[in-house]
Amino acid sequence: MSADAPSSSRALADFYEAQALQAPESLNAFWMPFTANKQFKSAPRLLASASGMHYRSVDGREILDATAGLWCCNAGHARPRIVEAVKKQIETLDFAPNFSMSSPLPFVLAERLAELTPGDLNHVFYTNSGSESVDTALKIALAYHRARGEGQRTRLIGREKAYHGVGFGGISVGGLPNNRKWFGSLLPGVDHLRHTLDLERNAFSRGLPPFGIELAEDLERMVALHDASTIAAVIIEPISGSAGVIIPPEGYLRRIREICDKYGILLIFDEVITGFGRLGHAFGAQRFDVTPDIITAAKGLTNGCVPMGAVFVSEKVHDAFAHGPDNAIDLFHGYTYSGHPLACAAALATLDTYAEENLFQRSLEMGDYWEDAIHGLRDRPTGADIRTFGLIGAIEMVPRPGAPGARAYDVFNRAFHEGNLLTRVTGDVIALSPPLIVERGHIDRIFGTLADIIRTTA
Ligand SMILES: Cc1ncc(COP(=O)(O)O)c(C=O)c1O
Repeated sequence: MSADAPSSSRALADFYEAQALQAPESLNAFWMPFTANKQFKSAPRLLASASGMHYRSVDGREILDATAGLWCCNAGHARPRIVEAVKKQIETLDFAPNFSMSSPLPFVLAERLAELTPGDLNHVFYTNSGSESVDTALKIALAYHRARGEGQRTRLIGREKAYHGVGFGGISVGGLPNNRKWFGSLLPGVDHLRHTLDLERNAFSRGLPPFGIELAEDLERMVALHDASTIAAVIIEPISGSAGVIIPPEGYLRRIREICDKYGILLIFDEVITGFGRLGHAFGAQRFDVTPDIITAAKGLTNGCVPMGAVFVSEKVHDAFAHGPDNAIDLFHGYTYSGHPLACAAALATLDTYAEENLFQRSLEMGDYWEDAIHGLRDRPTGADIRTFGLIGAIEMVPRPGAPGARAYDVFNRAFHEGNLLTRVTGDVIALSPPLIVERGHIDRIFGTLADIIRTTA
C-alpha cells in the first residue's frame, strides 16, 4: 500500500468524502459481469478515478494501468480533448434518433472512420458494444448473400477458443466452452475451425509464431464437408485477446483470405481488441496486410469513455443492399443508440487525440521495447509461455496441480494490492494491453513488478 493510503474504515470514509465519492452501503445488489461475485465482494478492488496511465483506487493508491481499462482506453484516461467534447455535446444535443432521422455527427464520424479502414471498407454501421458489432456483422453476412440471391448460404464458421462477445450470435461462433455450455443449443448451422495455440511448437516465440499455417486448411475441410454454397462467412479475431492472447501463425490469415476468396465466403475480422492502434496501425488488417470484407470494432473507438461499437463493410457488401427502390429500407437492423451523439462526439475527439499524438505509430515503435521487456520474464519457473505482438502481451503460467487459474489469479490480485498494478487474468494467463501512451519507464515498472510477484507466487 502507498504511504497515503487510508488504513482504517474511518479513513476510508473520509477518503470517499474528500473525493466526493458515494460510498456503496452494500456490494450485494450489483450482480457483476464475468466475476466470481462472492470472491470479489469479500475483498473488493474498487477504482475511484483515473488520469493518463493511472487509476486511483478508493483507498488512495495510484495504480498503473497495464490493461487500458479493459482493452479500451487506448489514449489513456480522462484525456482533455475527449472530456471537453463529451461535456459540450451533452449540453448541445443529448440524443437524436437515427431511424429515418439523424444529426450531423454520425455522418462526420463515419467519413473520418472510412479514412482509417483498410481497402474499400467505406461504410459504417453503428452499434453500442463489441457484442452488438459481432451480431450485426453476422446478420449483415447472412442478409448480403440473401440479397444476392444466395440465401442458402446460412452457415457461419467461427473458431475454437474465439471470443466474439456475449450475444447469441457471438457465443455461437465463439469457442470458449464456459461462455457456451450454459446457454442451450445456440445458433444452428455453425461450425468451428481449430484454434492455433500450440505451446509445444511455438512457446516463447517472438514475432508471429512460426508453426501452424496448415491449420488454415481446416476451412477447406469445412468446405468439403458442408459445401461452399452453404457457407456465408468466417469470423476471426486477428489476435484473440480474451482466450489468453493467441497470435496467428505466420501466413495463416492470408491463407484464410485466399480460401474465402476461392469460395465466395465473406471474411469478418473481429477487431474489437486489435482495432485503433493496438497493433501499430488503425486495424490489425493493415498490420497483417490482409483485408477482410467486414470489420467489427468497439472499445478504442471512443477510448472506452462512452459505449460505442461499429461495423465496417466493403463497397461490395454495402452495394448488395442498394438495389431496391428508394423508399425501401436497406437493412432491417439497428439500435436505439446507433450513432448516439455523445458516443460520436467522444469518438471524434478520440480520433483527434490518436492523430495529434501519433499514437498508432507510437504503439508500433514501442513494440520492440515491450517485446524485449516481456521476454525478460522468460526464465521464471512457473511460466509456460510468453506471447506478444504489438502492445499486447500474455504470460501463461503453469497451472497449480488441481487448481487451474489459481496461480494467475493470485499474481493478478497481488499485483493490484501489493504492486499497485492493474493486469488482467484469464484462466492461467496474465494478459496485458497498456494505453498506447505508455512510456519505457512504465514498461520497466510493469515487468519489474510482475517479475517480483511471479517469483514469490508459488
Ligand atoms: C474480439 C472481441 N469481440 C467482441 C467483444 C465483446 O465486446 P463487448 O464486451 O463490448 O460486448 C470482445 C470483448 O472483449 C472482444 O475481445
